[in-house]
Amino acid sequence: MAEPLRIALAGLGTVGAGVIRLIETNRDLLAARAGRELKVVAVSARDRAKDRGVDLSPYTWEDDMAALAARDDVDVVVELVGGADGPALALAHAALDNGKALVTANKAMIAHHGIALAESAEEQDVALKFEAAVGGGIPVVKGLREGTSANALERIYGILNGTCNYILSKMEDTGADFAEVLSEAQRLGYAEADPTFDIEGVDAAHKLAILAAIGFGARLDFAAVRTTGITQVKAADIAQADALGFVIRLIAMTDVEESDSGEPLLLQRVRPCLVSKGHPLASVDGPTNAVVAEGNFSGRLLFQGAGAGDGPTASAVVADLIDIARDEVGAPFSIPVAQLAAMQPTEPGHRIESTYLRFTVNDRPGVLAEITAAMRDAGVSIESLIQQGRAVDGGDVLVAMVTHEGPERCVREALDLLDGSESLTAPPLVLPILRD
Ligand SMILES: NC(=O)c1ccc[n+]([C@@H]2O[C@H](COP(=O)([O-])OP(=O)(O)OC[C@H]3O[C@@H](n4cnc5c(N)ncnc54)[C@H](OP(=O)(O)O)[C@@H]3O)[C@@H](O)[C@H]2O)c1
Repeated sequence: MAEPLRIALAGLGTVGAGVIRLIETNRDLLAARAGRELKVVAVSARDRAKDRGVDLSPYTWEDDMAALAARDDVDVVVELVGGADGPALALAHAALDNGKALVTANKAMIAHHGIALAESAEEQDVALKFEAAVGGGIPVVKGLREGTSANALERIYGILNGTCNYILSKMEDTGADFAEVLSEAQRLGYAEADPTFDIEGVDAAHKLAILAAIGFGARLDFAAVRTTGITQVKAADIAQADALGFVIRLIAMTDVEESDSGEPLLLQRVRPCLVSKGHPLASVDGPTNAVVAEGNFSGRLLFQGAGAGDGPTASAVVADLIDIARDEVGAPFSIPVAQLAAMQPTEPGHRIESTYLRFTVNDRPGVLAEITAAMRDAGVSIESLIQQGRAVDGGDVLVAMVTHEGPERCVREALDLLDGSESLTAPPLVLPILRD
């Protein structure tokens, strides 16, 4: 058998300890699949004394994780520390600059710095792999880089944040409101103490930008992702959606369209949507993730599984290590960095969709007429309208409606007409509808 693949591991938290456990448990199977042993040589984290539930005695401990990148007895550095910048990024660059392959689960770092890291990897002719950065244990990066590589992809979309999906499906099951379910999710460890990145859609946006680059050959452009989180979704919206035949999910979606002059324009968007109950994404519950890729020859493909957790994420990290052990380098984003196209973001106002709108209004005569007049004046056609009789939030009532299909910009124009209206006591909620 060939020489072992020598691994240095930075970060021994949830994922890092999971990687050690997986490599120990599946040692022989991994060696058979990789054609050589996967051998952890050195490790690093902040606190050497911490019990991580794994035996670290066989490995050299480095207090300073930067030292991992300089070791002569290491072929690949695995970064499982986290954070877009700081020590994780410094380690990643040092590892590549020293000619070592890099494996990471760090979506924030790849979304912000993936191009620079991929350029370094190409210069050094070493692998940069990040399967675990998107969808945890789901092999979606490989699926798009390799499995769908014969297709022109038409659309990639899915549920990329387990915390939001847990919260929304729990709200659905219990009828509880967002804040209550969020606190429970934090207590159970499904949400971070600071959940901002998850609930505001930023984490899903990181992952979407990565998928867009891989799927469409677009130069990574995280800043262009239009992102709306789930904090404004109320229990009443979930109930209303249910009555209409939908569930609410945070959907990340990307596609490419042509400008009038034939240039490719990239759409990247994360927003809560009403998903019809017949759609495969509607049955994705709890912390599960799922990605749909629509290829021009493959048709609709669905990748689904655990989006996080020590086991699934370690599974993805070690799959990358096996690829590296097999000398499968490959371009990190499917094609060489220089060939990735810097696509302008599209302005999607012309796109046709049907929309769920919810207004929080004063319970007084004339309010409905004001809202429907704004819709009429902006050219929005209403399919159904429901005023909830129950007063909430001290006298306000909710008015919900579903529009017929029409250009997105018309809904925005209607909302502009209502902007500043004294009838509205909170900003309206706008949720697009995703049908089968
Ligand atoms: N958790 C998941 O399910 C999951 C899923 C997909 C992707 N990811 C990604 O995987 C990465 C790791 O996540 P995680 O959940 O395993 O995080 P975690 O449990 O917080 O572990 C982070 C590890 O990094 C170490 N660390 C932090 N700062 C350090 C520093 N300055 N120097 C040395 N070590 C440092 C910590 O050391 P101590 O233990 O000594 O404090 C800890 O071992 C992140 O990029 C995350 O986004 C996680």
